[in-house]
Amino acid sequence: MTIVQKVRSMAACLENSLYDPTTCNAFVCDITRETISEKIAAESVDVATMIFVLSAIHPNKMPFVLKNIFEVLRPGGMLLIRDYGLYDQAMLRFGPGHKLDENFYVRQDGTRAFYFSEEYLEKLTTDAGFLVVSSKYVSRETVNHKENICVPRVYIQGKFCKPEVVDLNSNTNQL
Ligand SMILES: C[S@@+](CC[C@H](N)C(=O)[O-])C[C@H]1O[C@@H](n2cnc3c(N)ncnc32)[C@H](O)[C@@H]1O
Repeated sequence: MTIVQKVRSMAACLENSLYDPTTCNAFVCDITRETISEKIAAESVDVATMIFVLSAIHPNKMPFVLKNIFEVLRPGGMLLIRDYGLYDQAMLRFGPGHKLDENFYVRQDGTRAFYFSEEYLEKLTTDAGFLVVSSKYVSRETVNHKENICVPRVYIQGKFCKPEVVDLNSNTNQL
């Protein structure tokens, strides 16, 4: 989706009669550049989800993005992540010329995909101040009906908590 399409869908959402600004706060935001706490009060969010979002972001920008989310979560708040895991079939199928960096690829349509190891995701999140509650690979089979094949997929799924008391000296928080 382009930024213009996103702004249009957001406008449609805000105009919908069911949209209630007293309970919802919908906005478009580039989480790699904009500070989310300018749109949502710092330390006010119970749960943030990133479902196949982090893998679309350049690895150099991931630390900023996670700190950005950390800032708006309340102490004890949770970040839930599901994303592509290392050696997922889609990663193994990339041909020459698609690799941009270690575990980072560009698809045919120009979108990017990063494939996470457990260690990498845990380091990223703990460096941003989170505690790892759980982090594991999830294996699934998806059926490609067009090619009549079963594709083994590898995802990564994790639950990361903002500590009740932030230890400013630690970057290796583990539960
Ligand atoms: C593959 S889609 C996943 C969408 C949805 N969560 C799902 O599972 O279908 C990747 C999402 O990451 C979001 N995203 C990528 N880069 C972003 C950025 N810099 N700021 C905000 N969102 C971003 C895109 O808007 C897009 O919705």
